[in-house]
Amino acid sequence: MFVVVGVTGGIAAYKTVHLVRRLIAEGHDVHVVPTEDALRFVGLPTWEAISRNTVTTSVHEDVATVRHVSLGQRADLVIVAPATANTLAKMAAGLADDLLGTTLLATAAPVVVAPAMHTQMWWHAATQANMRVLRERGVHVVGPADGPLTGGDTGPGRMSEPDEIADAALALVRGEAPARVPVPAPDPARDGDLAGLRVVVTAGGTREPLDPVRFLGNRSSGRQGVALALAAADRGAEVTLIAAHIEGEVIAAARGRVTLATVGTAAQLQDAVTDAASIADVVVMAAAVADYRPAETAGTKLTKEVTGGRLVLELVENPDIVAGLAADRRPGQTIVAFAAETTSDDEMLARARRKRARKDVDLLVVNEVGWERGFETADNEVMIIDRSGEVTAQASGSKRLVADAVWDAVVVARPL
Ligand code: C5P
Repeated sequence: MFVVVGVTGGIAAYKTVHLVRRLIAEGHDVHVVPTEDALRFVGLPTWEAISRNTVTTSVHEDVATVRHVSLGQRADLVIVAPATANTLAKMAAGLADDLLGTTLLATAAPVVVAPAMHTQMWWHAATQANMRVLRERGVHVVGPADGPLTGGDTGPGRMSEPDEIADAALALVRGEAPARVPVPAPDPARDGDLAGLRVVVTAGGTREPLDPVRFLGNRSSGRQGVALALAAADRGAEVTLIAAHIEGEVIAAARGRVTLATVGTAAQLQDAVTDAASIADVVVMAAAVADYRPAETAGTKLTKEVTGGRLVLELVENPDIVAGLAADRRPGQTIVAFAAETTSDDEMLARARRKRARKDVDLLVVNEVGWERGFETADNEVMIIDRSGEVTAQASGSKRLVADAVWDAVVVARPL
């Protein structure tokens, strides 16, 4: 098999020597394409000796063979290991200012990347957004692994072991189970940082009954709220999860890990959260609460025989629960609200700032929702606004990743 191994400028480049040796040992024709920076870590002679093929980095070398596209065209598999944050950003943008860039654009072969960088760089919203683009485009991701990093820190960011990368890449080409996209283990820096805190999370969507069989509801699945509850539990908090209409499979992971209360209507949610908040240090209102409820709930089904050809419903406003909690908050209690918006313009931020002030919450998590965004999906994209109205954090990725970003913001916002 014709395998291109892209090597970019990270210390883990030395481990890629083993990856190339393994591929050669298994009889593959391996062509190493290092970036200029990668050669500062492992020199060109090493790559040539080990791969037994000519190695170049620039599109201006070996021009007669049209090398800048021929490597990509001939490849059956492309592996980029280590893939630095910079290279992943270049790949997401489709930049081609060196031989690796042109090769990646010219190939139709499966592409496997093994990210390697410092934890903060991995968690940065820009890197996470780039990873999302690459995954959507079919790039397979191996790692990063969790463990000690250069400089003494630990966390997700280590390049996966060469054998793991080779196993995943070769399985992919053989058409076996696609290379898994491992979720990085939780950041150990967050380990126990919520210990001793009692937190309440509301999740899901309320339903306001019209009659015994119908209700006014919304599309909230509760996934973000459940992710928030689990992230807090993982980080050491004592968690109460108040769940409104969350499917069994979504809530299953939280069972046994949090105190669970289930509610139906906004009024029931208000009672449950007010009760739980009386002893809580943090309240996160992730539930989608109905703003209005029917003025009357019919005791029997509203049949067409009774309602005729036109049905006018009268709705009355529900109390703003989170505003009520904030007005009566315990000293030192941190309150977080969510705002689901259907526009992404500047007006969204202005509206979010007004909402934070109106409800007097410490943090407002704004996410854009729509028919295909935010609801019922595995991923989310949010901005977090603090009391000053500043966007203190942005997060994009899995709902767990967003949950951790919210708790990070809570840790910063908590009074000392
Ligand atoms: O005003 P809006 O509905 O956009 O605010 C959303 C936030 O307020 C969410 O945190 C939600 O849980 C909360 N909310 C509430 N009571 C309501 C409506 C929304 O606490 N009646």
